[in-house]
Amino acid sequence: MLKVQDIRTEYRLNPMGIDAESPRFSWHLVSDKQNVKQTSYELTVQAAGQEPWTTKAVSEEILEIAYTGPKLQSRTRYTITVTVTDNYGEQATAESWFETGIAKEEWQAKWIESDHKVTTQDGNGGLLSKPTKRDPEEFLAPPTVFSKVFTVGKPVAQARLYATAHGVYDFTVNGVRTDDRFLAPDFTPYDKWLTYQTYDITDALQSGDNKLAITVADGWYSGCVGLTGGVNSYGKRHALLAQLEIRYEDGSSEIIASDESFAATEEEIVYADLYVGEKHDYTRESKALNVSAADHGLDILTASDKDPVRIWREIPCVEIFTDTIGNTVLDFGQVTAGFVRFTVRGEKGQVIGMEHGEILKENGEFFVNFEGAARQYDEFVLSGGEQQIQPRYTFHGFRYVRLVNFPEDIRPEDFTALALSSDTRDTLQFECNDPRLNRLWQNTVWSQKANTIAIPTDCPQREKAGWTGDMQVFSATIVQNTDSNAFLSSWLRMMAMEQMKAGQIPMIIPYVPEYTMIGNFFDHTSACWGDAVEVAPFRMYRAYGNKRILEQMYPSIQRWIGFIEEKAANHIPLKHRLNPKYWFNKKAKELQKYLWNTGLHYGDWMVPSKTSGSMAGAAKGILTKALVVPAYYCYTLQITAQIAEILGKTEDVKKYRATIEKVKEAYDYYYIRKDGTMPTDLQGVYVLTLHFGLIPEHKRENAAKTLIKMIEDNGNRLDTGFASTEFLLDTLCEIGRPDKAYELLWQEEAPSWLYEVKSGATSIWECWDAKLPNGKVQTVSYNHYAYGCVDDWIYRHIVGLTAIEPAYRKFRVEPHPQCGLTHVKESFRSPYGDIVVEWKNEDAFSLQVEVPVGTEAEIVLPNGQTHTVGSGTYSF
Ligand code: BGC
Repeated sequence: MLKVQDIRTEYRLNPMGIDAESPRFSWHLVSDKQNVKQTSYELTVQAAGQEPWTTKAVSEEILEIAYTGPKLQSRTRYTITVTVTDNYGEQATAESWFETGIAKEEWQAKWIESDHKVTTQDGNGGLLSKPTKRDPEEFLAPPTVFSKVFTVGKPVAQARLYATAHGVYDFTVNGVRTDDRFLAPDFTPYDKWLTYQTYDITDALQSGDNKLAITVADGWYSGCVGLTGGVNSYGKRHALLAQLEIRYEDGSSEIIASDESFAATEEEIVYADLYVGEKHDYTRESKALNVSAADHGLDILTASDKDPVRIWREIPCVEIFTDTIGNTVLDFGQVTAGFVRFTVRGEKGQVIGMEHGEILKENGEFFVNFEGAARQYDEFVLSGGEQQIQPRYTFHGFRYVRLVNFPEDIRPEDFTALALSSDTRDTLQFECNDPRLNRLWQNTVWSQKANTIAIPTDCPQREKAGWTGDMQVFSATIVQNTDSNAFLSSWLRMMAMEQMKAGQIPMIIPYVPEYTMIGNFFDHTSACWGDAVEVAPFRMYRAYGNKRILEQMYPSIQRWIGFIEEKAANHIPLKHRLNPKYWFNKKAKELQKYLWNTGLHYGDWMVPSKTSGSMAGAAKGILTKALVVPAYYCYTLQITAQIAEILGKTEDVKKYRATIEKVKEAYDYYYIRKDGTMPTDLQGVYVLTLHFGLIPEHKRENAAKTLIKMIEDNGNRLDTGFASTEFLLDTLCEIGRPDKAYELLWQEEAPSWLYEVKSGATSIWECWDAKLPNGKVQTVSYNHYAYGCVDDWIYRHIVGLTAIEPAYRKFRVEPHPQCGLTHVKESFRSPYGDIVVEWKNEDAFSLQVEVPVGTEAEIVLPNGQTHTVGSGTYSF
């Protein structure tokens, strides 16, 4: 039977409150027959009491069908009905819905502010300083609770709340938290873009008096951000814009809009800060504040364009233990990001605390593994009796929690870790016969989830910042692990907004002022980091078929290349300028124009041989920038030339291809010796040079040999950082040495992926030896997804699943049982539906493949046989 499933609007299932003028719809089909294709579709969009809009086509297309009907009405629920016919003549129909948000002119609400105490700079000593010793109460502001009591006198048909804030907010209706989202309105560059949210609160209203209470805490707007904990990045005051619209069954309606009639109070929360932590005092009296209207305008306001931050997993506490120095410590068995919900039975006025950390010292002692402004300490003054408590406006990176002054009477079941993550649908499951690889895969997923809270971040405990390089290298993996189409589109929209005048893509998006000081040294960007601008959209196009993101980002990509071009052409390294040869050699002078080889960059950040596992050591990664930067320029152009081709920009394709040739020539001329060796003995430089095709054919073999020798001299261990690890195993396969790739994959000595697993990691570490082989733990992050980029290679090479056409409309399955595994299975929800690949290599090789409706698979068996199949399930 044919079925239509998963009807999405703007990449989301049933989005509430969208404002796209021409939303796009997608779906996928399932059928129990083979070789099924959609032959035509009919799509109807209709709201109650309105004329339906219908579009029909004889077409196989199921992705991104745009709405082109009459202007959509605001504040309206639309039903989408999709009817399809397949090549067997079978028909299927399914329904879904979306709801539009509020039009700008319909806001009757005023921005309101309270006269709360303002968060002030804590002056904790700048970059890489230890967490402040000062009492956060001195410098952080208590959240403001804005509230309004109103009366409902008639039966309610529907009620919607439209709201946003300066800060992060949530709300209750009659004391009940009716929505499960956290940290609204998410993090955007608030000076340029703010989103509002739409909530259905129909069921929360009661007849008679009702109370709406909206709590606004500092969040990214005015709280601590970044390493140094700079505050008030976007403004000093909590502000609220909220409009509640009640439609009654009798057809009338009523609007309750934020204005000076709202009350404002400070309640039990003493402070709530994303970096520092949260303090609740349940003995505190409520304090009234004054409310005034503020003129923040609506110019930069749009509807939310992605799914909210929610609780992704609830993790039970596995153990409570006493460490070597007497601390009571909770172990959740998993590094995660979020906070702890707990039940406590204490005395009135008893002050208890919770400090969060990701790893224990080798002797089992609780350890604070991060530097900077992050304090990760929550504190609670109890009211007495049994209480259930949880923070709401902060999150921490942790596995362990040190309990301070808790009552004796505690049990593991009193504590649950709530793992937060932006709601991106999980789309991939991987398992194989080697538990170590399964654990590595899970570690990547956990690190991804912990670092996709509102924006993609480097780490959830120290910086929580949108470092572009981290996502750049991880983008091929994230687009397979989850449906992050809306999530990444939203981040890239911010990237385009934050792009600087000269074309730089800032190294952090949103580019919070906190980071501009570091940014000044770096021209605000770095090779490999800024490249998120073309790499992430390209990966999204390949995985999701999202061509719009390429169109949207293309101008930014061109400006980014313009910036690099200018740097290459007009900035000459001192070494060259001082060399008389350079001045008399026309070729040298001419080719220099194609080398981006000046400025500060992060290079192959975190190269293990250059870093000692500390942040200060990490800074040495910068020393590896030579060659990494000019090599990346070639990559930037290669990806961009492909994008230009997809967009049909023929002239640009020609121009970029011509520049690629020049860059290659210059790179070879300046950096590659006659024998194929290079002046930098870093594995990563050889990887980039070989993988990007920067080396002439006749030098390739020796460069490849040199790379192998470096790996062998290093005890068959990798020595690559952020910029090159993604390509390491591919490069080894390309030079005909997949055996070395397997050796690195299965390596258990540091640095390696399985070393982390062997050392008990439950997430991906920031640096390969975060925990040194002698057991000593470093003050670094134990939750960075960057090195999890190996998953993409595992999917493509080990499982053998690669997209040939965007969105896996056509794909290849080419397993590599030589990798040493005997059983591998991947289930992947592609845009066309589930692709399942399962192979076994016990006595003989066998393969099972599930091919979704509307797609075609090219099967390449280890014996060289190939088959091309349409949808269905097949065994080989
Ligand atoms: C972050 C990285 C980031 C880097 C820049 C670090 O502090 O945690 O992941 O990319 O700075 O090199």
